[in-house]
Amino acid sequence: MTDLSDSAKLLIDDKEINLDVYTGVEGERSIDITSLYKDHGLTTYDPSLGNTAICRSSITYIDGERGVLRYRGIPIEQFDRPCPNFIEVAWALIFGRLPDEEELEQFREMLTENELLHEGLKNQFMTLPVDAPPMAILSAMISMMACYHKEFLLLEDEKILMGAAARLISKVRTIAAFTYRRAAGLPFIYPHPGLRYCANFLHMMFSLPYRQFEVSEEMEDALNLLLILHADHEQNCSASAVRVVCSAQANLFASCSAGVNALWGPLHGGANVKVMEMLDGIYRGGYKPEECIEAAKDHNNPFRLFGFGHRVYRNYDPRAKILKTACDRLFAKMKKADPLLDIARKLEELALKDPYFVDRKLYPNVDFYSGILFRAMGIPTNMFTVMFAMGRLPGWIAQWKEQHFADGAKIIRPRQLYVGNPKSNYLEMEKR
Ligand code: CMC
Repeated sequence: MTDLSDSAKLLIDDKEINLDVYTGVEGERSIDITSLYKDHGLTTYDPSLGNTAICRSSITYIDGERGVLRYRGIPIEQFDRPCPNFIEVAWALIFGRLPDEEELEQFREMLTENELLHEGLKNQFMTLPVDAPPMAILSAMISMMACYHKEFLLLEDEKILMGAAARLISKVRTIAAFTYRRAAGLPFIYPHPGLRYCANFLHMMFSLPYRQFEVSEEMEDALNLLLILHADHEQNCSASAVRVVCSAQANLFASCSAGVNALWGPLHGGANVKVMEMLDGIYRGGYKPEECIEAAKDHNNPFRLFGFGHRVYRNYDPRAKILKTACDRLFAKMKKADPLLDIARKLEELALKDPYFVDRKLYPNVDFYSGILFRAMGIPTNMFTVMFAMGRLPGWIAQWKEQHFADGAKIIRPRQLYVGNPKSNYLEMEKR
């Protein structure tokens, strides 16, 4: 519950304006400025919305100062245990609480029933260039799902929403695996109804006709964990994109497709590709991690330490902490080593004692170690952000649902501070 707990006073032009202050369940306070323009002709200026709460939400809680992340109240660390279950987490994010056995089984069955692509959709997929960026393919395919599942364009009932969610979560996995297979020139491997979500994905990625890929327990667990850790992150760039599109009463497919496009950017989910390219470049180029840290600090140098820094975390991203340990666990079990992991560890060690990073509170974020795990599974770098999207989809659906059904929800339509030309006249071409 959010409480109207206090009030704030704003002094402007010798006028005192009283504003309500709300307090969230964890004590965070937010000044209500919704009537500022209507009553006083004033807007607030916050270009990257870093200081603006755009909604009330009960899905995910982050305390960036303390490095806390919780899904539906459950600390993220509690999902790092043997046999974590991505589908259970997806259900909890979308429907508000952990499912009971029957609910989970029913949802699993829905995922299995909907794992194939409509042949028409598959034909559309085949028309896309083989070497198209996988995120462009994913966004196009999710958008196109609206053409093949028109029964889900109106979602006013929770049961119908569950059907749409199951289709999206299940089919995105098939689309991702097919994208990889087609680009690699390999025959499609259809989903196996007897396999769980993550094992089924790895089967579609790596089995061959008549040669079933043996999914090891450690790989399945690592993938489950990765998807869970990516599942939601409150009002990040892609979740906000989903909400903005949803607020125009656009359908779930259109909104999630927008989420994919936002996630693609290198400052958001695309950072996991950039991290891998950076680590690989350091390794192949024989650069010293110390040189890279110096380059990252130099504002005249375009080099950035990808996988470091976060708008909200001013502390270690708890997901990165879990992933770092998961890397150690997986490599020990696989009796393997990866020189890129050594480079990542060294970069982190140097950065965490360097005043530039310390003063700016820049710590590893989720993308710093995730790629090393994806790579250990044999997933190619250009598919990393698609993997992020697979994990984030339940979060987008949950954010869409909350936005769509919010009491008094309005279209999200920010304002601007106009700094262009004052009124001026159109000039004929010859007078310009
Ligand atoms: N390497 C070097 N300097 C950095 C970095 C970095 N990775 N991140 C921030 N800084 C510096 C930045 O130059 C600025 O310095 P100054 O105060 O001297 O101008 C200061 O730290 C504050 O940075 P900012 O860009 O104003 O912070 P922001 O909150 O707008 O941006 C960020 C957050 C994540 C976009 C940024 O930290 C970044 O570009 N990191 C690298 C990309 C990345 O890893 N993105 C993944 C984010 S987490 C997962 C996700 O959202 O998908």
